Amino acid sequence: LVRQVWPESLEDVDPVALYGADDRPPPPGRPWVLVDMVASADGGTTIGDASGGLGGAGDRAVFGALRAAADVILVGAATVRADRYGPVRLPEHQQAARIERGQTPLPRLAIVTRNPTFDLATPLFTDSRPAPLIITTATASPAARVEAADRADLLLAGHGDSVDLGAALAALAEMEVGVVLCEGGPTLVGQLAEADLLDELCLTIEPVLLAGGSSRIAKGPSPGVEQRLQLRRILEAEGALFLRYTR
Ligand SMILES: NC(=O)c1ccc[n+]([C@@H]2O[C@H](COP(=O)([O-])OP(=O)(O)OC[C@H]3O[C@@H](n4cnc5c(N)ncnc54)[C@H](OP(=O)(O)O)[C@@H]3O)[C@@H](O)[C@H]2O)c1
Repeated sequence: LVRQVWPESLEDVDPVALYGADDRPPPPGRPWVLVDMVASADGGTTIGDASGGLGGAGDRAVFGALRAAADVILVGAATVRADRYGPVRLPEHQQAARIERGQTPLPRLAIVTRNPTFDLATPLFTDSRPAPLIITTATASPAARVEAADRADLLLAGHGDSVDLGAALAALAEMEVGVVLCEGGPTLVGQLAEADLLDELCLTIEPVLLAGGSSRIAKGPSPGVEQRLQLRRILEAEGALFLRYTR
């Protein structure tokens, strides 16, 4: 059971309806970029090497609600590997609602990598409809690119060794992508923040203390950035908080 705490108190809200109704106007030349992350009360982001054990039922509900709203799910290759990403799935009625809104039935997964080497026999690559998009660079190994192109579509973005995220987002806009949901990890989120490409942050805070050395939700070379966020909504379920911020 998810309730809204702020701006007004509401018992038993439907995350799919709430997050689906939020306004996400694409800025000029790129899609709206929304980041969804879960952290412990002390800011940790992984248990073991994965984030899967961290989020509770409420987090899974919000995670699904955001996927239901997105056109593309952008994710770093390390997260795809650590969290064992599979094909994106949504209930039939949510797929129908997406079609009615003019979206594809399912959001497409887009993986950012310098090294497009994945186990292409896993369901992520054999069962995803549409096939995943791999966003990489012209400097990536040609052999790996050819192999990956068998099971995914490749998008080359930028001229250096790293994907230029601004160029990647511009290319997505040209593919009529309106809302990009970034599911991490912290390295990718840090780069979006550094490049000032983040429009919305949906942060789950789980009532758990982790200590240890896991990353914050965004990381990168210091000194980092200082960007003001505006708090838009607070939901709560079983002690977990779901904060929605926009820039
Ligand atoms: N708590 C949460 O909400 C949450 C969410 C997501 C992930 N996580 C956790 O975070 C950890 C992974 O995060 P991470 O920060 O280490 O990695 P990440 O951001 O998931 O992925 C980093 C990788 O993405 C690729 N990449 C990133 N930026 C790139 C660029 N500009 N150009 C080309 N490739 C780029 C590179 O892949 P290649 O090495 O293939 O070149 C890089 O090694 C995992 O433990 C995961 O469980 C937690």
